[in-house]
Amino acid sequence: MQITPAHPPAPRRCSPAPLTPDVESFYHLPHGEHTGQACQGTACFAAKHLNPARWAEAAAQNPRVYCLGECFAAPAKGQTRPRPPVKVFSSHGIVLGRIAAGGARSLAAAQKMGGYAALAQALTQSPEQLLAAVETSGLRGRGGAGFPTGRKWRAVAAQPAGTKYVVANADEGDAGAYIDRYIMEDDPHALIEGMILAAYAVGATQGYIYVRIEYPQAVSVLQAALLEARAAGWLGARIGGKDFTFNLEVYVGHGSYVCGEETSLLRSIEGQRPEVMARPPYPTERGLFGRPTLLNNVETLVSVPWIVTHGGAAYAALGFSKSRGTKALSLNSLFNRPGLYEVEFGVTVRHIVEVIGGGLRGGGKLKGVIIGGPIIGLIPPHLLDTPLGFEELAAIGAGVGHGGVVAFDEHTSIPALVEHVFAFGAYESCGKCTPCRSGSGRVEAIFTAAIAGTASRADLQECRDLVTALKLTSLCGHGTGLARFAESILRYYPTEIEPCFK
Ligand SMILES: Cc1cc2nc3c(=O)[nH]c(=O)nc-3n(C[C@H](O)[C@H](O)[C@H](O)COP(=O)(O)O)c2cc1C
Repeated sequence: MQITPAHPPAPRRCSPAPLTPDVESFYHLPHGEHTGQACQGTACFAAKHLNPARWAEAAAQNPRVYCLGECFAAPAKGQTRPRPPVKVFSSHGIVLGRIAAGGARSLAAAQKMGGYAALAQALTQSPEQLLAAVETSGLRGRGGAGFPTGRKWRAVAAQPAGTKYVVANADEGDAGAYIDRYIMEDDPHALIEGMILAAYAVGATQGYIYVRIEYPQAVSVLQAALLEARAAGWLGARIGGKDFTFNLEVYVGHGSYVCGEETSLLRSIEGQRPEVMARPPYPTERGLFGRPTLLNNVETLVSVPWIVTHGGAAYAALGFSKSRGTKALSLNSLFNRPGLYEVEFGVTVRHIVEVIGGGLRGGGKLKGVIIGGPIIGLIPPHLLDTPLGFEELAAIGAGVGHGGVVAFDEHTSIPALVEHVFAFGAYESCGKCTPCRSGSGRVEAIFTAAIAGTASRADLQECRDLVTALKLTSLCGHGTGLARFAESILRYYPTEIEPCFK
């Protein structure tokens, strides 16, 4: 399938296609060349004993593919098109409700299930009322950082009038996460409606959905849905008969994990070499093409229509502590019941593992679980009673992250997991910060030696120093996340690590 990236509107500072050689050398996957590849992501690593031949194929592949969003069937091979079970375990299916009910790929199906009702309602009100509802809801970003969504929207709305952008982050590169993928494939109008609402609230006229190239079905479903939304008058000029214009396009990524980081993503759309940028200025002030930009994760945006129709207070009544509302989780193939589930914040990790996931297949013994990608802390079995919440998980060195739940059983060697995660970190580093560019590869090499029995205590100390450097000097969460992962291992699994260093 030939996928052509969307072109930016005026100001057309550069053309994203074709990429200049300098920019193209940044990326791993040329357009359209990933289908049928075996996946080397962390969920596939966790499940490699289930199909060693497939894992060997993945490990030998170049360019590497670090997640295809099929972690429920891991170890996976590209786009085999099984679909995960989907279930809502909350009193309200805010994010997955329509998907659990069979999906709503067409506009007609979406409208039958309440689609665009929130937008019609919001257009009878002022942007200020919409902003206030999102602020009241307590919604926080689902892309990993958990930043208050209302505060971000308010910051873009407060910028002087002029060209503003809304960008949906649909890069979903965290190995183990396949939430955004199935939202886009099975309920694309929910994302489109969420983005139009965001544009109305902040005064944006143009939007982009940055979809990773590893999700070709999501791209084609979204493109068809955009045509339908435009034909129905939900996109374009004078939406709902108001003085409100908003256009929306899909932009297809080029296979780089770090392009999920917001500054890198925006540079990628601009056709520039997408190295991470120092902040401030934040994208809310100087984002895409130098203009104020609201960038949100897919699940964040998809939560907004429900907030509009039910009110911010109803949303804030769900969840617990400072984590309000619901969270979609995707469980990997080591569970008895892998799948896509929506829960209220506050359930314990134990509940997710033992009740929702049904424990590990084959009676496997849990060695640890990661929620939200490999660059976050590993949760050991003795901390399973920690509740799902941003602050609560951060307090044990873990995080909500993207919500991809990857369990590891007794087949996983912890030193091999460290080697795997740092290999991923080194491969996907944008190269801007030295500890991430060089240090992550060095930690990988030290652990390769440790597994072979040739590493010393001095090597372990070097790893500790590199982790400190990653933590203190990285410009983005790629480097600090690698440090967080390593710290959790050194803290919770010393008996598996220290004997490997003589
Ligand atoms: C290395 C790296 C990768 C990231 N990947 C994603 C991603 O795939 N999807 C996403 O929504 N956010 C990702 N983020 C977080 C974004 O930078 C940003 O915080 C988020 O998209 C903001 O949206 P939210 O406020 O709705 O969460 C990533 C961050 C880092 C450091």
